[in-house]
Amino acid sequence: MHFCRMKRIVVFTGAGVSAESGIKTFRDSGGLWEEHRIEDVATPEAWRRNPGLVLEFYNQRRKQVLSAMPNAAHLALKQLEEKFEVQIITQNIDDLHERAGSSKVLHLHGEIRKARSSIDPGLVYDIEGESLLTGDCCALGSQLRPHIVWFGESVPAMEEAILMTSEADVFIAIGTSLEVYPAASLLLYAPEQAMKVLIDPRASRDKAGKEFTIIAKTAGEGVPELVHKLLNNYV
Ligand code: OAD
Repeated sequence: MHFCRMKRIVVFTGAGVSAESGIKTFRDSGGLWEEHRIEDVATPEAWRRNPGLVLEFYNQRRKQVLSAMPNAAHLALKQLEEKFEVQIITQNIDDLHERAGSSKVLHLHGEIRKARSSIDPGLVYDIEGESLLTGDCCALGSQLRPHIVWFGESVPAMEEAILMTSEADVFIAIGTSLEVYPAASLLLYAPEQAMKVLIDPRASRDKAGKEFTIIAKTAGEGVPELVHKLLNNYV
């Protein structure tokens, strides 16, 4: 008996996939790391030194995410599920993949709409509304922190992401500068025989590797085009 399984597509997204939804990227000109120093807002030291400033930085991020909508790229990725087994692995803290309807989304760097206990990382809560404030506490009585992986912290979901990537028939990276590790190292785990594509207007072949097909377009343009081709020609 011939058993034919659905092809597996792993999609690895960065800030660029949400840029056309109005969410700022980090390293483009006008990006977040031009306006804020990483050391002031996105490290455990910053949290110890000035939790109010860190909370405010992420409250602003949350406000932006809540007012944003999924764009054509998020929506096209959901469509892929009609014919493929699709796993999204995102570096983004927004929930635009989920709101577009994607059913399997793994967040490598945390989720802006969640808070967690600063003493027990297993205690994670949904945040109601825009703000997490000084004095908001977990069930154990300690201050809640944003559910975000900061610089200098480990990336607990990395192992699962590597396993998913190593089983891909198609691996698509979208809108990422590939500057941040360990996330960027995921590209190395896509199987040799997998189809590999990077969609980013400023894609660097040096960083992606020569086996990647580069589509130098925005996510809003390049992703629907690729999804259309996959749905029609690759089953
Ligand atoms: P970056 O800001 O480093 O890179 C954004 C990428 O998106 C760049 O390669 C741009 O060329 C591309 N881009 C811009 N507009 C685009 C568009 N409309 N369509 C497609 N691509 C576009 O963001 P990331 O690579 O996601 O981590 O950054 C990785 C991590 O660094 C983030 O998860 C965050 C950050 O510091 C933490 O905060 C832990």
